[in-house]
Amino acid sequence: MITQLFQRFVLRLLPTIFTVFLSISVASSIERPNSDGPDPQDAGEARLIPGDLLGKRIFEDSELSDPPGLSCASCHDAKLGYRGDNRSFIPGIPKGSRENVFGNRKTPSLAYMAYSPDFSFASLPNDVTGKVETVPVGGQFWDGRAIDLEQQVEGPLFNPREMNIPNKSAFIKRVQLSSYAVLAIKVYGANIFDEPRAFEKLASAVAGYEATPRFKPFSSKFDDWLEGRGKLTEQEYKGFQVFMDPKRGNCVSCHAGGEASEHTEKTPDKKFPLSRNPRNWLFTDFTYDVLGVPRNAAIPENGDPTHFDLGLCQRLDLKALAPADVAVTSLCGAFKTPSLRNVAITGPYMHNGSMVTLRDAVAFYFTRDTHPERWYPRGANGEVAKFNDLPLAYHKNVNVNQPPYNRSDKVEPMTLENEIDDIVAFLKTLTDKEFLPNAN
Ligand code: HEC
Ligand code: HEC
Repeated sequence: MITQLFQRFVLRLLPTIFTVFLSISVASSIERPNSDGPDPQDAGEARLIPGDLLGKRIFEDSELSDPPGLSCASCHDAKLGYRGDNRSFIPGIPKGSRENVFGNRKTPSLAYMAYSPDFSFASLPNDVTGKVETVPVGGQFWDGRAIDLEQQVEGPLFNPREMNIPNKSAFIKRVQLSSYAVLAIKVYGANIFDEPRAFEKLASAVAGYEATPRFKPFSSKFDDWLEGRGKLTEQEYKGFQVFMDPKRGNCVSCHAGGEASEHTEKTPDKKFPLSRNPRNWLFTDFTYDVLGVPRNAAIPENGDPTHFDLGLCQRLDLKALAPADVAVTSLCGAFKTPSLRNVAITGPYMHNGSMVTLRDAVAFYFTRDTHPERWYPRGANGEVAKFNDLPLAYHKNVNVNQPPYNRSDKVEPMTLENEIDDIVAFLKTLTDKEFLPNAN
């Protein structure tokens, strides 16, 4: 059932993931343990090394934005699995620091994102044809436009839709005037605020914080089950099987997991030929795909019918980065595969927040082509406007070949509805204990 899995990416990616992860931790590893007095609100702070604590202070500082009031944590709230929308009236689509200024994509959870490898084009076998293809992988943001976490930090700080800080020197000045300036000096030395690389250093503290264990607790019911500490219900287990089955859900072909890494498990269990190490279950291979999700009319920019969010191909630098055999236009509509860890609490769903419930997000995969009227409005001609968030020229990019996208009406509706519920039940086992609604 899972042989296909082994051909896929995780094994290839592991060394990269490992290096990225190491370089983030090394960048922020500072000699002494923290002695700055933990925040009474957060007893776990005492365990953070000073560099990571500095990252946390910056991450939570709502005085940095223009006007003040918005921090990274306003949109990536630790209590909500590091997602949020700063109390926007458009669910999932965040409000910026200024009145009536909104983002144009859904805030992703930052949990487990330190595992995303640097953005690159990699040679990987196609799931359907087996032919080796050059495909984009990794990076940060829905379109991977930041190569890694360090580079990502400047995005929200200077984005006029988000924190709206005028420039790097204004940011450095604000940290210098903050109550934790002394911590920055302790970590990076007395000259930190005058150094040419001051910005990069402060950004790497934030990236270091985002790679700390609190962003990747691996404490879900599923993890307990993997490690033999608990059971899944019959329905959750059925959902897991559909999720893994290449002929039915096939979800694992992109929301990847289960490959045993050579270092940790030389002889996997015969009855369960998959990894029991939670770290091998990130539920994404960080590749990109075109789902053709419906348009979200609540996003202000979508008021203009000629405006489309094209995802990956919209990046100005993509042409320069893409190898000669990759047509950039074939990546119009492609977005990064999100991890499904904590997915039960990270709605609304998809890059544009167009799916309100988790059940909808799952049902969409199975019924997009059998019952498009359920997802798309009718156009002026009375016909269902399928893939209405993409210009016609790019409809051909939408994945219609591989399960679960290739559903035909031969599938029994009843079975299907059960399968969807089973998958949803399984996905609910992926919520880390720290992020369960009653955990805080
Ligand atoms: C106003 C809300 C808001 C604020 C403030 C904000 N973010 Fe985000 N964050 C978002 C949204 C929306 C996205 C997705 C944007 C995109 O993909 O184009 C995102 C994406 C990210 C990602 C990429 C995650 C992934 O899955 O690829 C990281 C990492 C991140 N933010 C970290 C930060 C940090 C660090 C700060 C503070 C310096 C911050 N964010 C401030 C809303 C916000
Ligand atoms: C061919 C790759 C691929 C397959 C197969 C796949 N997904 Fe996805 N999934 C993606 C991508 C890419 C996105 C983001 C798409 C977007 O926002 O435009 C996504 C998004 C999602 C989301 C929304 C997550 C969020 O945080 O917004 C859920 C839930 C989800 N997938 C569940 C599933 C389930 C369940 C299956 C199996 C029935 C599945 N996926 C199969 C690639 C895939």
